[in-house]
Amino acid sequence: MSVDLFVQSHLQYSLKRLLLLQALTDCVVELPKFYCLATTLAALTALQALKGRVNKGDEVLIHAGSGGVGHFAVQIAKKLGAHVISTSSTKNRDFIMNLGADEHIDYRSQSFEQVLTDIDLAFDTVAPDIAEKSLNVVRNGGHLVSISMMDVPAKVQEKANERDITVTPILVRSNGDDMDTLRDMLIEGSLKPHVSKVFDFQHLGDAHIAIESGRTVGKIVVTV
Ligand SMILES: NC(=O)c1ccc[n+]([C@@H]2O[C@H](COP(=O)([O-])OP(=O)(O)OC[C@H]3O[C@@H](n4cnc5c(N)ncnc54)[C@H](OP(=O)(O)O)[C@@H]3O)[C@@H](O)[C@H]2O)c1
Repeated sequence: MSVDLFVQSHLQYSLKRLLLLQALTDCVVELPKFYCLATTLAALTALQALKGRVNKGDEVLIHAGSGGVGHFAVQIAKKLGAHVISTSSTKNRDFIMNLGADEHIDYRSQSFEQVLTDIDLAFDTVAPDIAEKSLNVVRNGGHLVSISMMDVPAKVQEKANERDITVTPILVRSNGDDMDTLRDMLIEGSLKPHVSKVFDFQHLGDAHIAIESGRTVGKIVVTV
């Protein structure tokens, strides 16, 4: 399938699901404005990274729990019964703890490698070097999932093989069942998107600048 066709079909699919979500959530429960709009790609990515890999009682490390994908991942991992440790700078510590995380690490003042061991699953949402370093804290036979790399570099794969760690790069895919899971979580209240800023369409450029800063908290929304 061509990239254009893929993007087009994904958008059409997402729009259909969005409308369904909007209709359902509007009808069934009172949710703050933009809840549905904010719970799309990033939430789907977090779900697809964690489902089937996280078990009750697992120790899960989520990098950038204050980010778009990360803040959904913290909540989904908690819903799956994990003990969640997440990173961000200190200014976002309370935000992450309020999502339900059990522990926080300020990556600017503390190296996660120095304080963590035997993690069942590490989820890298930041950069390939963070993914590679995370291997050092994952237990033998554990999981490393990354959305910052599309291929696993040979040296990372070799290192993982030595300790039987499964490394999975994730590229989010449209999936109706997953969207249904997210809808159910929204309705039951176990998943709450955080919208830190709303831009109108005329300020799309400002929205891009904000997201490219790498400092936004939760999601930003652009209204059309
Ligand atoms: N593969 C896929 O299917 C897929 C899907 C969606 C997104 N992505 C990619 O995934 C990445 C994350 O996307 P996103 O939208 O979740 O990011 P985001 O919302 O832009 O992340 C911003 C957050 O990251 C935190 N952060 C920045 N550097 C950090 C570090 N070194 N350690 C811990 N936290 C850090 C920041 O907190 P502080 O201000 O406190 O530092 C900020 O709150 C992007 O590269 C995106 O393109 C991939």
